[in-house]
Amino acid sequence: MLEQNIEGIDFFLDLQPKLENFKDAVIQGLGHDIKYVPPKFFYDTKGSELFDKICATKEYYVTRTEIALITSIGSDLQPLIGSNSSIIEYGCGSSLKIRALLSILKSPSEYFAIDISKLYLIKTVREIAKDYPSLRVGGICADFSDKIVLDQSKGPSSINRLGFFPGSTIGNQTPDLAKILLERMSATLGSNGQLLIGVDTKKDTDLLNQAYNDKLGYTAQFNLNLLTRIKRELQADLDITNFQHKAFYNENEGKIEMHLDSKEVQNITIDDMVFSFKKGESIHTESSYKYTEGEFSNLLNQSGFSLVKSWSDPEELFRIYLAKVK
Ligand code: AVJ
Repeated sequence: MLEQNIEGIDFFLDLQPKLENFKDAVIQGLGHDIKYVPPKFFYDTKGSELFDKICATKEYYVTRTEIALITSIGSDLQPLIGSNSSIIEYGCGSSLKIRALLSILKSPSEYFAIDISKLYLIKTVREIAKDYPSLRVGGICADFSDKIVLDQSKGPSSINRLGFFPGSTIGNQTPDLAKILLERMSATLGSNGQLLIGVDTKKDTDLLNQAYNDKLGYTAQFNLNLLTRIKRELQADLDITNFQHKAFYNENEGKIEMHLDSKEVQNITIDDMVFSFKKGESIHTESSYKYTEGEFSNLLNQSGFSLVKSWSDPEELFRIYLAKVK
């Protein structure tokens, strides 16, 4: 049975997402001519804690700017979204964001979060259910980049669906994959559905570089924690101190790139597999694409949506888009 009764919440659906095997992904990525590990593997318990610390740094403007923006556009958003919406959040990140959204909407009726991590999902939706007793609250355990069909009779109401995808998480995908993900969202949200999505903007290179090279070093720790995971979980033979965090804005491609740079000629060995590094060779661990208003509006328009309106903070650090399913 995919539908389950979970204490404290109104609905739970386990779509049993296939968990990508960490070892297979690392072996495949390190075996590639340009070495890489997908950014989703940053988020073990330690990595999630470090990400929260990044969000609180002076340099990483993303989180605080987005939360303040949601609050400040409330009176504008409320009539556009209307009442009785059924909110579907893609990934249940910081609950501060959904709380900010709930506080500006006119009597939302439902909140469902989609997340790949079942335990974390249950914990998060339970807290929302407890604090918003009149809201119907549910969790859907799934990989949000998969096609998600929500036709269960007790699931999210099919009218007035509002997708919520904050944090510029969309930026981790290449624009081609972002388009596929948005198309899937438009199919899930259905006719009359809307999407509220937060996207980081293209801006001054120094500001971007600083945001991914904070002085307290949390971004560096977050990046290097991936090597700690590889060493501990895969019993890899590797010297973490021989790698360093590198993050820079690639202006041509409009993205931040994060790498783990090898300080020396060295090897990482997993079982009997040896991955050799030249001095200065790196593991590419993350890309974070930035969009101008025009670029992202076009992407929405090509992905089954039409733009309703977008807003940014006065410094244009971050932009929130409301789009309607075509
Ligand atoms: C969660 C993907 C939006 O790209 O800004 C923050 C992750 N990496 N600092 C981003 C991240 C380094 C973040 N996203």
